[in-house]
Amino acid sequence: MPKKTIQQLDLSGRRIFIRVDFNVPIHDGVISDDTRIRAALPTLNHAQERGATVVIGSHLGRPKGTTNPKLSLQPIANRLGKLLKRPVVFSPESVGAHASRVVAEAKPGDVVLLENLRFHPGEEANDKEYAAALANLADCYVNDAFGAAHRAHASTVGIVQHLREAAAGLLMADELAHLGTLLDTPPRPFVAVLGGAKVSGKLEVIENLIGKVDTLLVGGAMAYTFFKAKGLPVGRSLIENAYLDTVRAIEKDAINRAIDLELPLDHRITDKLTTDASYRTIDVHDPSIGQWLGADIGPSTVTRYTAILRRAKTIFWNGPMGVFEIDSFASGTVSIAKAVATSLATSVVGGGDSVAAIGRAGVRNQISHISTGGGASLEFLGGRKLPGIDALPDTNTTPVKTSLSAPE
Ligand code: 3PG
Repeated sequence: MPKKTIQQLDLSGRRIFIRVDFNVPIHDGVISDDTRIRAALPTLNHAQERGATVVIGSHLGRPKGTTNPKLSLQPIANRLGKLLKRPVVFSPESVGAHASRVVAEAKPGDVVLLENLRFHPGEEANDKEYAAALANLADCYVNDAFGAAHRAHASTVGIVQHLREAAAGLLMADELAHLGTLLDTPPRPFVAVLGGAKVSGKLEVIENLIGKVDTLLVGGAMAYTFFKAKGLPVGRSLIENAYLDTVRAIEKDAINRAIDLELPLDHRITDKLTTDASYRTIDVHDPSIGQWLGADIGPSTVTRYTAILRRAKTIFWNGPMGVFEIDSFASGTVSIAKAVATSLATSVVGGGDSVAAIGRAGVRNQISHISTGGGASLEFLGGRKLPGIDALPDTNTTPVKTSLSAPE
């Protein structure tokens, strides 16, 4: 059932609390990637243009309930103001007298950004009082933080009980539509490309997608746990020994369901993971790997995976094919990024590293949907219910029953 969206709320003259995910990379106050801020603009503009007073809440990093100036949202207020082309009032506290005054003084069309919600211990604890204090700042609630939808926190779950109306933002709705299509009605062939360091972090998504995809292409360090389970030489590559039986079961499941599960054919191996390391490319059966380790997929694998991606009608990609931060081991990931982008398929890419690789390959505009959720998109595709989404009312439903609802 689709969720009620901000488009179904009457916003004029109302104060709206919008939960966003502005958890962006930031060092010494300098934001190196503002994708997540830009992604929230349609919702923020929508609310502003309809005459709402906009109160924004977000987390940044993991300050664990204490104030950490390095994780202040002040620099984000400045960047947001530039992107919205209007001043953003920054409240140095998320709740309390000062925050209430700042919000009370704001007029329709004004935008207030609250300080990092995770500076308050009540946020991650989903504390009732903190949720109520956040709710006190507004008349209605919109959750546009897809990236944080897998967290049951005060600003993503608890707050909904304290406000009469709640809805999904435009970004949230867009994410749910794109990722939902992958699970429900993906045009076929549906190819998933999964990479990254550990198979353990992707288990649920593999197990869930294996019933839905036609082909699963595996790359990155997680391929080595599959190789070891098959008795192939792996040298010093990253292995999760506790998961050898699990990956054997995954392969068996794929065979039983006639799913094509592909592992790399060749790989670039190295003596160490540094910019000056020696490397060479060998077949994955070649025992001459010795004590070296795998750092990237090889050209034969790129050719095979590219051919499969070219025939796809739907593609989901999460996780790099190698240690792409080091130039010598980036070509597999960058080639897959280009293959995903140039395919005629509907392509969905999630996860910080794959999105960075898409940027590095210069093909951002050729991807159908770049998800702002890393962990959230994996949990969603793993078939889990995300608490931040669950808390929102479905479309066509009467308003959620809240602590403010009139007695019957
Ligand atoms: C993310 O970056 O995946 C989200 O912002 C959630 O952050 P968290 O893992 O710290 O909850």
